[in-house]
Amino acid sequence: MSNYHIKHLEEYYQVYRKSVRNPEVFWEEVAEEHFLWRKRWNNVLQWDFSKPEIKWFEGAELNITENCIDRHLNTRGDKTAIIFEPNNPDEETQHISYRELHDRVCRFANVLKEKGIGKGDRVCIYLPMIPELAISVLACARIGAIHSVVFAGFSSTALATRINDSECKMVITSDGSYRGAKTIDLKSIVDEALEDCSSIESVLVAKRINSDIKMKEGRDYWLQPLLDEAYHDCDPEVMDAEDPLFILYTSGSTGKPKGMVHSSGGYMVYTAYTFKNVFQYREDDVYWCTADIGWITGHSYIVYGPLLNGATTLMFEGVPSYPDFGRFWEIVDKHQVNQFYTAPTAIRALAKEGMDHVEKYDLSSLKVLGTVGEPINEEAWHWYDDNIGKKKAPIVDTWWQTETGGIMISPIPFATPTKPTYATLPFIGIQPALMDENGEEIKGNQVDGRLCIKYPWPSMARTIWGDHQRYKDTYFSAFENMYFTGDGALRDEVGYYRITGRVDDVVIVSGHNLGTAPIEDAINEHPAVSESAIVGFPHDIKGNALYGYVILKETGESRNHDNLRKEINQLITEQIGPIAKLDKIQFTKGLPKTRSGKIMRRILRKIASKDTSNLGDTSTLLNPEVVQDIMDNVL
Ligand code: WTA
Repeated sequence: MSNYHIKHLEEYYQVYRKSVRNPEVFWEEVAEEHFLWRKRWNNVLQWDFSKPEIKWFEGAELNITENCIDRHLNTRGDKTAIIFEPNNPDEETQHISYRELHDRVCRFANVLKEKGIGKGDRVCIYLPMIPELAISVLACARIGAIHSVVFAGFSSTALATRINDSECKMVITSDGSYRGAKTIDLKSIVDEALEDCSSIESVLVAKRINSDIKMKEGRDYWLQPLLDEAYHDCDPEVMDAEDPLFILYTSGSTGKPKGMVHSSGGYMVYTAYTFKNVFQYREDDVYWCTADIGWITGHSYIVYGPLLNGATTLMFEGVPSYPDFGRFWEIVDKHQVNQFYTAPTAIRALAKEGMDHVEKYDLSSLKVLGTVGEPINEEAWHWYDDNIGKKKAPIVDTWWQTETGGIMISPIPFATPTKPTYATLPFIGIQPALMDENGEEIKGNQVDGRLCIKYPWPSMARTIWGDHQRYKDTYFSAFENMYFTGDGALRDEVGYYRITGRVDDVVIVSGHNLGTAPIEDAINEHPAVSESAIVGFPHDIKGNALYGYVILKETGESRNHDNLRKEINQLITEQIGPIAKLDKIQFTKGLPKTRSGKIMRRILRKIASKDTSNLGDTSTLLNPEVVQDIMDNVL
């Protein structure tokens, strides 16, 4: 992409005004300037939020991997595309050049084809943060297969649900993974999941931990011998701009995860453009995002956004605490990282460990710092600013979602003055609105409301896989002609936005979205449990932790509560994954309910947060007496 960046606030406002005055002209210029299209579009944008139907660059043809890789071969063939930093610092770092990436993606793509994968087929990728993860994502995109990456911390049940929902034909996994001092047997999790997945025809297995695993004859194949045999070039499949590029699941407020479907053309344009401007990437910079590619942040800002810009993107396999809490800073020093993008939960965890781990390393290469995934508290913001950026590297607090595909509200470094805890101003082309409970837009500043977006942007998800009605109900029905984000926000006196948190039944724990419903479903499967309700409560490191209120069946026999707590968390680990475990479990006789039988989570949230000063009127509840009982026994 050309080297032009927005340089000061006035310029931001100028570009912003232009982008919202005539979005089609604006995005058409961006699309024309920066990308390789096989065929030009007929229309820049067609949209109708009432259906909802959104089409960007309709009629255009492209392949995103040609834009991520082939296009750079002449000018950047020997430049490092991916730096792979292994879990164990004693293992050697890998540098994968654009040329090598081309070769490896093409070979992988040919293996996929040989195993019967074609355009439109769904491929589930369940891999740790090793190069094969990025390469398999790109290999799918190369041949037009739709990748569905499932975070490798999810359990076999969660994996099976996702495979079945989109009827994947193949799983790509590894024998296992390293996480700090631990190893995890990924393949056995896959084997367990596949007991219930009839659509899967084959499993490709990358070797990572050299463990002795079971391979099922006729279904499971070691990856490396196939890659060794594969041809090193593969013509990119020509895709329509609106053809799906990938599915990525996110939690909702009901039990079933939502498979958000992202497009090829619009997603490409928006992730590339936001990456360039939000991180102010320059040609020789080294960029590092610490997310996992299993989440949207990794899709858009480890793989696609950086590679579309011909950047060097670092992939880290490990965890911030191994071999010690200096690991992140050691990597920054070792690779002279220029842009560093992480989550508030990681910042809080590292801040707690003190400065010894930071001071050992040279962090002077850092130019831009980023955060994403949850609101960042003031203390963490200042720690990051003072100790990591040394007050010289602006912090971009980027607000966005799996559904939005790319960054939506964020400062532009060196142009937008930052303000702790504020994501600040809408990105170019983004038109936020704050809505009140009656569905009216709240105009002016110093107001708060529900955050919506008024106008389409290129990388918005187009549907939920297999359930367009749910897409409409979740995002386009709360407010007429608006995309509803599920978040609350306030706008300060100068128009800066601060995200105040979810207004639905999603809790963000360590930056991971967790729907309360699937966790409750898991708990309710315990034979001793009759009903449960989960809420979030503030936690120093994780941002939020989970608090469970559990009603036990009246069987007359008494059970050891600590054992029950362990069993419940075990069930949650099996059904969803360890990230969804509860910090506190309170056994209770009842749950506060409205007369229509809806659990009043607001009250439960307040009690769990020890904020009972303003519980509101509880007298209209079906069972007001349980409130006092719950308060008396709060943990
Ligand atoms: C929250 C992650 C405050 C928000 C890219 C959103 C944030 C949800 C921020 C999406 C931020 C994300 N400040 N809250 N900078 N970024 N969130 O789908 O509640 O994993 O709706 O996408 O995370 O999480 P998701």
